[in-house]
Amino acid sequence: MEEARALDSTYPATKRDAFCIPTFGSMGTKLAPNGSLGDPVTYLCGNSLGCMPRSTRAAINDELDAWAARGVESHFRHSGEDRGLTSWVDIDLPLSKLMSPIVGARDSEVAIMGSLTANLNALLAAFYKPSSSRFKILCEKGAFPSDYYAFYNQCKLHGIDPDSALVRLEPRKGETYLRTEDILKAITANSDSLSIVCLPGIQYYSGQFFEIEKITAHAHSFPGIVVGWDLAHAVGNVPLELHSWNVDFACWCSYKYLNSGPGAIGGIFVHDRHASVAADPLSPDVEAMPRMAGWWGNNRDNRFQMKEVFEPIEGALGFRQSNPSVIDVVALKASLEIFKDFGGMQAIRRRSLLLSNYLLKLLQRSAYYHEKSTDGEGKVGFSIISPLNETERGAQLSLLIQFSKDNPQANTMERVFGYLNDRGVIADERRPDVIRIAPAPLYNTFEDIFTAVKLLNDAFKSL
Ligand SMILES: Cc1ncc(COP(=O)(O)O)c(C=O)c1O
Repeated sequence: MEEARALDSTYPATKRDAFCIPTFGSMGTKLAPNGSLGDPVTYLCGNSLGCMPRSTRAAINDELDAWAARGVESHFRHSGEDRGLTSWVDIDLPLSKLMSPIVGARDSEVAIMGSLTANLNALLAAFYKPSSSRFKILCEKGAFPSDYYAFYNQCKLHGIDPDSALVRLEPRKGETYLRTEDILKAITANSDSLSIVCLPGIQYYSGQFFEIEKITAHAHSFPGIVVGWDLAHAVGNVPLELHSWNVDFACWCSYKYLNSGPGAIGGIFVHDRHASVAADPLSPDVEAMPRMAGWWGNNRDNRFQMKEVFEPIEGALGFRQSNPSVIDVVALKASLEIFKDFGGMQAIRRRSLLLSNYLLKLLQRSAYYHEKSTDGEGKVGFSIISPLNETERGAQLSLLIQFSKDNPQANTMERVFGYLNDRGVIADERRPDVIRIAPAPLYNTFEDIFTAVKLLNDAFKSL
């Protein structure tokens, strides 16, 4: 513990107080002998749902006040205007500026909108234009199911057999994450028939950080391939440079590392080269890309004139469909302001690596750590299925819990997870045998990590 405390005093979690960390009292967790109800639990689950910023409640209350005070008029005349609050018609616009540095985009390339799967479907609707010869979607075999359902049904919507269209990559036998060289090879092998490459920036299960720039460039070296990324686990976790990496499109949710609240609003990136519009009367023949369209993507100046002409806004904003939930938007804004104050993604990544490397070190020191999976060999313990090399992963380390040969049905993972949970360690389980631990650099401490690994060791000892 002394080492962890020393690290915390050298690298203090300067923004921890900006967040509500659940306590033993609020979680209803049994107290340790010297514990008290107000002690924070060890929350290492920012990869699933980030903690609530303290400023979120006031930000939402401002909008409730505006609604109460002026009702519909708040769309154009917000009661908090004198405090710099934005009228609802433009509520999301200030967020593009806060979001674009987080994903490495131009402001015009980012829109705050929708939710992740809906956005993925909308972007696929715009970008997936299969022909009889070019119709394949390259994705992962272990993709998050929602993404797979989207890919599968996009094929169906086009009358294409998903079994022939989906190229699904999986790690080599005995390996736990994909090799970039295998992804590149698969792209080359299918280059005549690929329409879209769509992969996760960070894989939800293994925590692998894909080589976005390299994979995108390789796919683009063949004409006709579009490259999109699901950044659910990457946004706010690792620095991204979507514009200069030449990514075609990307989408994300904001409730994980971006701490915007459960199910809150997501976002999209559309590279500027796809989002120009024939706003210039001198080139009226340049048509905007067909898309899932709605009035919020339409020219703001005539949006309320109810014309039957769709004039998309230039850039990603033109892909918006509906007016956004203002409550969601301001909740996200409250968190993005903390990111800005902290100094942006490079500073976050520096702290994230300090924390996750410390976690890795303690895990590797554990008596229960196995370098390789030993399932069924008689030794309970864990191996790490995430890349060990820091450049190949984000904050998350995924532990594969190994069962004992003598008792393979012993629900080892559930028992370890339950042990941790009962003692105030909030991590994330993926049945049947994975526990994901993700220190969030904005609020987690080295002490959190020490506590989690100590209790993990105790859990194995207790089995
Ligand atoms: C990689 C990935 N894709 C898609 C989703 C689905 O997100 P949503 O429910 O916001 O559409 C998630 C949710 O955690 C995810 O992690």
